[in-house]
Amino acid sequence: MSQTDQRTSLDGPSPAPVPAPGPAPAGRPADPGASAEPAIQITDVSKTFGKGQSATVALDGVSLSVAPGEFVCLIGASGCGKSTLLSLVAGLEAPTSGTVSSGGRRVAFMFQEPALFPWYTAAQNVALPLRANGVGRKERQKRVRDLLESVHLGGFADKRPHELSGGMRQRVALARALAQDAEVLLMDEPFGALDAMTRDLLHELLEGIWRRQGFSVLFVTHEVREAVRLGDRVVLLSSRPGRVLEDFGIGIERPRGIDSGQTVERALQIKEKLNEEVMRHVS
Ligand SMILES: Nc1ncnc2c1ncn2[C@@H]1O[C@H](COP(=O)(O)OP(=O)(O)OP(=O)(O)O)[C@@H](O)[C@H]1O
Ligand SMILES: [Mg+2]
Repeated sequence: MSQTDQRTSLDGPSPAPVPAPGPAPAGRPADPGASAEPAIQITDVSKTFGKGQSATVALDGVSLSVAPGEFVCLIGASGCGKSTLLSLVAGLEAPTSGTVSSGGRRVAFMFQEPALFPWYTAAQNVALPLRANGVGRKERQKRVRDLLESVHLGGFADKRPHELSGGMRQRVALARALAQDAEVLLMDEPFGALDAMTRDLLHELLEGIWRRQGFSVLFVTHEVREAVRLGDRVVLLSSRPGRVLEDFGIGIERPRGIDSGQTVERALQIKEKLNEEVMRHVS
């Protein structure tokens, strides 16, 4: 049986209307694994695109769960199905077999490209999901102000995307995703196009907001060090078709430096496994 039962709103050009926000998460649980019900439960999921000779098996028997408040990073070779897995969790695609559930939680999606409306200001872009949720004008203005402040863009509310740097645009996209009051944030290589310094700042910013607000994150990246910098766990997918090869717990104290000895050492161990898998596939 295939099933997706989450409500999804998108950080993309056509944000789907989402139900009115419920109470905000009460904060990050001390032990995310202690909660009985996972925020995301992926069970024995396979996904095939197309039919017959031209069919592509993108995912094969993937099982993975993410606890409330947990930050899980997904790595794997290009084409192994990472984006496909996020699309399944977001409900943009349906699994061919298996089940995907986020227990009715609000899910937001942030892509590598910020996908802002060019004719809207930063504030208007961030306001979109609030409008879709029927948040009144006054409350909306306050929320937008707070959200832009939270990503350190308080002074840029009236700028249009072309007047902002790449890092600023990505921060507007983050604020827009946060405006959805999501309990699950899906991020597909959101900082991949940024320079190292801007990316470091955004790691810090995202980590701070995540720790305060307590949502769950499923974060796709090519960068093993970025995964170790951010994740409570780093999940390695096999080359296509994607399967879970290994699930690494990252027990390094936060906040972590992307260039700290511990991060680099752990990333090297994981990278070795990733390289083995890539070499196994090409040889
Ligand atoms: N809509 C689609 N129709 C047909 N094939 C698709 C579709 N989406 C993805 N695929 C195929 O599924 C496989 C997995 O793609 P996916 O985009 O999930 O990989 P990925 O791990 O995100 O890769 P990358 O790291 O390069 O972003 C690829 O072979 C891709 O061609
Ligand atoms: Mg991808």
